Amino acid sequence: MKGVVLAGGLGTRLYPLTYATNKHLLPVYDKPMIFYPITTLVQAGIKEIMVVTGGPHAGDFIAVLKNGRELGVKHLEYAYQEREGGIAEALSLCEDFADGGNIAVILGDNTTDADISEAVASFTSGAMVFLRPVPDPERFGVPVFDPQDPTRIIAIEEKPAQPKSRYAVTGLYLYDHRVFDIIRNIKPSARGELEITDVNNAYIAMGELRWAELGGFWSDAGTFESLFRANAYWAQKKTKRPCEDFSAYL
Ligand code: DAU
Repeated sequence: MKGVVLAGGLGTRLYPLTYATNKHLLPVYDKPMIFYPITTLVQAGIKEIMVVTGGPHAGDFIAVLKNGRELGVKHLEYAYQEREGGIAEALSLCEDFADGGNIAVILGDNTTDADISEAVASFTSGAMVFLRPVPDPERFGVPVFDPQDPTRIIAIEEKPAQPKSRYAVTGLYLYDHRVFDIIRNIKPSARGELEITDVNNAYIAMGELRWAELGGFWSDAGTFESLFRANAYWAQKKTKRPCEDFSAYL
């Protein structure tokens, strides 16, 4: 399976940090943010990757990622998203790269140490999303479960004021080749974006969306709080020291 990392958008929620660089090149402890989603794909056996980026600092990705070899990528391609048209619009740029095959998609601001290699290896068709219980589901796509069959998702709501479950749909998705036809048929949302949640709802309507719970640590890093959390987690994991250890400097 090929992989796609979506790293477009302007990162306005992180202004002024993103005035002079792209959000996905900001540090998460000892690495640029985008190293983490790429590593998640590589560890799942995915070595052919397309990075979609955009905005005024897109050229910096070449300086940071080069040809991807340092991260274990065999073949790295880049695409440029001309405007902040949404996650699904960014994905639509990967149709030729996917070449009719299945793809694993990860958002460039998601960091996780979950191992998705089994899900990738056993994926055949349809779509798969990875869920995670969170204390603030209203910030995410949130699954609505069938009251008769709580293992079945009947809808996904994007950033609902009143979430119907305590799960977030993480920014990690597996799709078959039909995803590109689906994107051609969805309409921009109220905020003018082609939403990945609408893509997932189309698979639900076809009865072809499956889900798994993501183990390990998972967080986005697109807000000050989540960026700080991601930094704290990876610092603790890599130094094998709890955050309190750093309090001697306070
Ligand atoms: O992190 C998981 C969440 O990501 C999901 O639960 C939501 O359903 C999904 O919509 C998304 O929500 P966010 O509000 O976090 O999306 P955001 O606009 O911050 O975009 C996340 C990443 O997607 C961003 O780091 C780069 C990529 N992206 C986003 C947009 C809007 C693009 O490549 N192009 C875009 O136009």
